[in-house]
Amino acid sequence: MLSQTLKKTVVRLVPSILAADFARLGEQLAEAERCGAARIHVDVMDGHFVPNISLGAVVVEALRKVTQLPLEIHMMITNPDLFLDEFCEAGSDSFLVHWEGNPNLHRTVQLIKAHGKRAGVVINPATTAAAIEEILPDVDQILVMTVNPGFGHQHFLRSTLAKIRRVRQMIERINPACDLEVDGGIDEETASLAVAAGANVLVAGTSIFGVSQGVDAAMKGLQSAANNALNRIQQ
Ligand code: DX5
Ligand code: ZN
Repeated sequence: MLSQTLKKTVVRLVPSILAADFARLGEQLAEAERCGAARIHVDVMDGHFVPNISLGAVVVEALRKVTQLPLEIHMMITNPDLFLDEFCEAGSDSFLVHWEGNPNLHRTVQLIKAHGKRAGVVINPATTAAAIEEILPDVDQILVMTVNPGFGHQHFLRSTLAKIRRVRQMIERINPACDLEVDGGIDEETASLAVAAGANVLVAGTSIFGVSQGVDAAMKGLQSAANNALNRIQQ
């Protein structure tokens, strides 16, 4: 059965700066903004929660000065609560925090909301959709990882598609206003698969910033693949 929410939705693109040219981040953000990005995805990694280190609040502060777009912070760190103040002061608009490794996820979500920010919960490929059921009424976004977190430029895991479908059904039942976002290995082909499964927000790094045709053509291609998939299920 087609979800009532999907009948009315549009698919939005969220460029991940992990794949951008860091020497000209301002320009790359401006391009993404001109091309209709819904918000900018910022991957924060600490070398513990994931085996990679990326960037911190100082980069968010710099981004805040050069874009009007909301900045969503994907916290791949062991204790996100400790860093919320710093990232809020730097100009973040929303936080995506992992279900994995957080024994007090409800507290973290409430803390994000107490800062007046949008809150999202992320689940890794090996985590079941059922894990988010109790927190779903409290969040604005659910992010289904379609790769294992920690690195850009990985292959989309098709085994996550069934889970995306289950999360969509749960959102429809419990919190229809919640975004269903996917992150990792999103290109024109996998964007189409993810949207057909129920995603309405697509995070993409490599397929936007790491391709020779440039940000504009890349985003147009992705948006059109996503729209076609959505039109097919809306018919
Ligand atoms: C991976 C990050 C992703 C990453 C996606 O841990 O959460 O946001 O930037 O990059 P691509 O689109 O290259 O898979
Ligand atoms: Zn991410």
